[in-house]
Amino acid sequence: MTLTTARLQAILSEITDLARASDSPGKVADYIPELACIDPRQFAIALARPGKPTLVAGDAAVPFSIQSVSKVFMLALALGKMGDRLWARVGREPSGQAFYSMLHLELEKGRPRNPFINAGAIVTTDAVLQGASPSEALGALLRFVRAAANDDDIHMNERVAQSEIATGHRNFALAHYLLSHGNLANTPDLTLGTYFHQCAVEMTAAQLANAGLFLVGGSDAPRLVSPQRIRRINALMMTCGHYDGSGDYAYRVGLPGKSGVGGGILSIVPGVASVAVWSPGLNHYGNSKLGTEAMERFARLTGWSVF
Ligand code: DON
Repeated sequence: MTLTTARLQAILSEITDLARASDSPGKVADYIPELACIDPRQFAIALARPGKPTLVAGDAAVPFSIQSVSKVFMLALALGKMGDRLWARVGREPSGQAFYSMLHLELEKGRPRNPFINAGAIVTTDAVLQGASPSEALGALLRFVRAAANDDDIHMNERVAQSEIATGHRNFALAHYLLSHGNLANTPDLTLGTYFHQCAVEMTAAQLANAGLFLVGGSDAPRLVSPQRIRRINALMMTCGHYDGSGDYAYRVGLPGKSGVGGGILSIVPGVASVAVWSPGLNHYGNSKLGTEAMERFARLTGWSVF
């Protein structure tokens, strides 16, 4: 089905109106104190297509904390640096557990199930840190997202990073456990300092949709990773990008996606578009509640799906 720009814009507006009318926006992540005071009633959606203007609706100019969506960009950097050697340290299977879970880590001797749960993302960041300082690794991350989005106005929120450094006890537990199994090359402080800062990158929905264009592929999309790697990162987003809610997201939306506890979701329509939604209230998986509902509606109204 060919959708005109006017029709796509009308779809984004309709989705925004419905989201704003909802009386159950979910619950904001309060385990990171700096995120606890965000107004859950905000909503934004943005659609980026290679070579075409980005369409937006709602609060699409408000920057938000991308949190775990950053794991996609760090994975691209880690694979660029280490290639398939990364998979000796982290798996490629869905975990079926919460993003902060330690359960499999003990059973599976310190090799996290996938690069999107926290344990796997800590290993991925640790890999990018090998032979690089935290500021070099974070500089590489910022250069990557700015190039992907074609936008230099993307920054980290130091207060959010410090807020998590002060309260991220589960992540420290995961890092120490990884270290005890020889799966951390740097100190927990160094790796987690870097990880918390990557999670504290802020983007607007429009910037995030633009940054996702490198995963869309095609001649007009930014060429930051190979076509084969695009397919593989999308596959991981589909199977693991929403943690224990990944099957539910695949069933309801049918597109690769990566969520963050800041309420952002990045979804890719391979070969067609990159979509970002943001609504800070979360469902019980820790994924944006209205964002997931909006993506379900978006997939239905556009007919866009990988299935
Ligand atoms: O490490 C954490 O807990 C957060 N910085 C990121 C977690 C997250 O975004 C999970 N996503 N839904």
